Order: sequence, then structure tokens, then C-alpha cells
Amino acid sequence: MLIAQLSDLHVAENGLAYGQAPSTQALANAVAYLNALVPAPDVVLVSGDIADHGLDGEYAQAASLLGRLKARFLPIPGNHDNRARLRAAFAPQSSLQAAHPDAPVRYVDDTLPLRLVGLDSTRPGQHGGGLTPQDLDWLEQVLAEGRPTLLFMHHPPFTVGIGNMDADGFTRAAPLQDLLGRFPNVARLCCGHMHRPVVRAFGGTLACIAPSTSLQLALDLTPDAPSRFMLEPGGLALHYLACPDRDPAGLVTHFGLIPGCGHSFPGPFPFYGVTR
Ligand SMILES: [Fe+2]
Repeated sequence: MLIAQLSDLHVAENGLAYGQAPSTQALANAVAYLNALVPAPDVVLVSGDIADHGLDGEYAQAASLLGRLKARFLPIPGNHDNRARLRAAFAPQSSLQAAHPDAPVRYVDDTLPLRLVGLDSTRPGQHGGGLTPQDLDWLEQVLAEGRPTLLFMHHPPFTVGIGNMDADGFTRAAPLQDLLGRFPNVARLCCGHMHRPVVRAFGGTLACIAPSTSLQLALDLTPDAPSRFMLEPGGLALHYLACPDRDPAGLVTHFGLIPGCGHSFPGPFPFYGVTR
């Protein structure tokens, strides 16, 4: 079972996020990469910041590009997204239906051996994230059903050492950490937002942050690091479970780079059998 994760697409109407990053082309590259991948992913998680400014035109482009995926995809919003517009763009393909279009996005997907739980960590109008008491109650009920679960949301509930991003904090990080610590069936917590690949232990599970498909945050761990980004290659995460029946805890996560937008990676070359 292969679960791909794309994050922080930042699709922009003029094709450039922050005036520099060719984010729309980068998403096209990511889609082509996944469509050529062997084995093919069973599903693609899209962990937020799909549109750069939450605009209808950006969602139209994102929906068109993601619609080319051979695999089905599951989107959740990030702080750059607009819940109602995201729902309008993607509702036909996902579990985004809600009584009100601005309601938080929450859903469970039980089509694979690993239950996939999408949770909305955005706080509308704010850069940072968090969960509500209602989110935590809902999540506890879902986890109490005991199925092996991959939980995904946009904001990581912990700091990563990049000061300008850490400053926002995460509302109710401690109760979430306690909750996940009580449910060993949580195989992974998958996030985005930080535009870098990062892992840490959190509440008894492993938390993984996927890089952006386009622009990456400058890797600057000084306490007063300014907010800057790099045009490093786009990336993605691949969560792979070889034997769901015999080894359901054997989920591994790979981080990969996506060629294109000026980046190419020669190879693969054989290690052995080459004449010197
Ligand atoms: Fe982002």
C-alpha cells in the first residue's frame, strides 16, 4: 500500500507563488511524477495550502491539475486556503460535504487497510493552526474504533526550530499530544506547512512533515531567522506499508524530490558491474 503526500502547492493564478516560485508548473510536475510512479500510489493526500491566496481561479487550476492524477486524492485546507472555495472546487471527488461551506473539514476514509483521517487545523484569517475541543472530541471517537490510522492535517502541532514559523504556536497541542499518546493505533501523523521534510516523535506516534511541491523554507535554525524561502527542488512524501496483514505497524516514510522547474537529477546509475 502506497500513500503519496503532496503539500503546500501554493497554486497561483499567474503561475508564480510570491512572485518567484513556479508553483503551478511544480504541481504539474508532481502529478506527472506520481502518474509515472511504480508501484502506483493507492491514494494521494493533499495536505493544505493548495491555493496561494484562496482564490477561485487558483482552485480551478489546482483542480484541473490534480484531476489528472491516476490515483484518487484527498485534500484538506491550509492557512492559505478558503474552506468554502476549496469545497466548491473539490467536493465532487472527496468527503468534503458539510452542513455549512465554512465548517471545518473533517473526514474518515476507510477504503485502504490503513484508515485515513483528514483534520482541519486552520484558524480562518490566521497563519498558525490549532484544533478546537470539538475537533479533539471527534478525533477521540474516530480513534477509539481501534483501526490502524494515518492522521493528516496541515499544521504540525510542534515547533521545528525555524523561529518565524514556530512563533505562531498551535492551539491545543498538549491535549492532542495526550490524545495520540492514548491510541497506539495511530501509525503516523502527517503534516505540511513548514515547507521542509521534518520528523519527530509526538504523542506515541511518528509525526512527518512533507516538503512543499514548490518552494522550500530556508533551513535557518538561528532563533531570529527571518522569513525566507529557497527555490530548492519540489518534494513529496511517500508512506509505504509493504504487508498490511502481516506487519501493520511497518509503515515507512520516504521523502523524494521532484524533477522539473530547472532541477534535474542524472541517474539512476548502477553501483556495480561498471568497467573502470
Ligand atoms: Fe505553505
